[in-house]
Amino acid sequence: MITKNILVTGGAGFIGSHLVKHFVHKYPDYHIFNLDKLTYAGNLENLVEIENELNYSFLRADIQDAKTINELFLKYKFENVIHLAAESHVDRSIINPNEFIYTNVIGTINLLNASRFNWKEGKHLFYHVSTDEVFGSLPEEGYFTELTPYSPHSPYSASKASSDHFVMAWYHTFKLPVIISNCSNNYGPYQFPEKLLPLIINNIKNNKPLPVYGEGTNVRDWLWVEDHVAAIDLLFHNGKPGENYNIGGKNEWKNIELIRLLCRIMDEKLGRKSGESEKLITFVTDRAGHDLRYAIDPSKIENEFNWQPSVDFETGLEKTVEWYLLNEEWLKHVTSGAYQQYYELYYKNR
Ligand code: NAD
Ligand code: DAU
Repeated sequence: MITKNILVTGGAGFIGSHLVKHFVHKYPDYHIFNLDKLTYAGNLENLVEIENELNYSFLRADIQDAKTINELFLKYKFENVIHLAAESHVDRSIINPNEFIYTNVIGTINLLNASRFNWKEGKHLFYHVSTDEVFGSLPEEGYFTELTPYSPHSPYSASKASSDHFVMAWYHTFKLPVIISNCSNNYGPYQFPEKLLPLIINNIKNNKPLPVYGEGTNVRDWLWVEDHVAAIDLLFHNGKPGENYNIGGKNEWKNIELIRLLCRIMDEKLGRKSGESEKLITFVTDRAGHDLRYAIDPSKIENEFNWQPSVDFETGLEKTVEWYLLNEEWLKHVTSGAYQQYYELYYKNR
């Protein structure tokens, strides 16, 4: 018996596909509707293992299209939303900011409106998945807490910050029950190879230069993607409407140190001489407006819900590398065609 109709947006992307599979397997009495536009970042190959499950449906749609979104709400009677659909790559937001505004801001508002007008009675929740980048950049010390003021620097983070503000505005003004979580950098299988980790793994595998922005001293706080999904599951079921929660791995790495570690793991897995892959490291022009450091203080979710990351970083990295080496076909599909053009455009003259 289905007890909840849940709309997940962006479920064909990296985090969304992990989340959809987790919910479909763990909650057979929920029906999961996965709504995704299938941009370059969305891939149905990420969802093969659940495509025939009875409590799962895929809907191809664009959250920029308010009319279609409203029709789908009327037709399928979604009772809850977990909203992940977004343009998610900072570098692309520097090349083409407008798409980030249309999807991340307008698309979010379309979903908020559809939820507001269709949820007349009963228990509902609009869960908005956001990022720690809304808080801006940290110096070498300190952490982002839920009380840190917003200070986004890139078109991507500005669009996510804006969407967070609209979500909270719908809570305060229209009493829409909402929760926001702001998470640090995720890693794991199925991540599109424009992001640092899979890009470096793919380039090491193909003996291509490893582009390190600036001096490689920027710091990111890495979290195993399934730990992010577990946190969303906890907050979706137990979080308090109107609240925001920070999620992070307490796992800070300078980019250059992380890339060196990946080189060592890859040398071992590929049977290369120690130090071989490090020779590919190439320092390139820095990202415009590159935030120095992100680091989350996850005390709130730890104390209120006893959430902890479950996978230590070296184990997670090994699992990630092994997955990319085993799933050559997946990697081949996502790096053909448009990816080559993107890579050429973005990295050729750096
Ligand atoms: P992703 O780029 O891998 O996937 C995004 C998905 O959204 C894709 O399937 C894409 O097809 C879909 N999409 C894009 N525009 C759409 C539109 N207009 N209509 C419908 N679907 C559309 O992103 P990700 O890394 O999985 O991130 C998911 C969410 O989590 C985003 O909201 C992102 O801001 C947030 N987030 C990501 C990270 C991270 O480290 N990747 C960390 C914190 C928060
Ligand atoms: O912090 C959460 C955010 O993490 C999410 O909201 C974003 O959706 C996600 O893309 C990620 O943003 P980053 O900009 O931190 O991730 P990215 O993988 O693009 O870059 C990680 C770091 O590595 C960053 O300091 C830039 C650097 N970098 C990146 C690439 C792609 C390089 O040095 N070389 C590269 O080729």
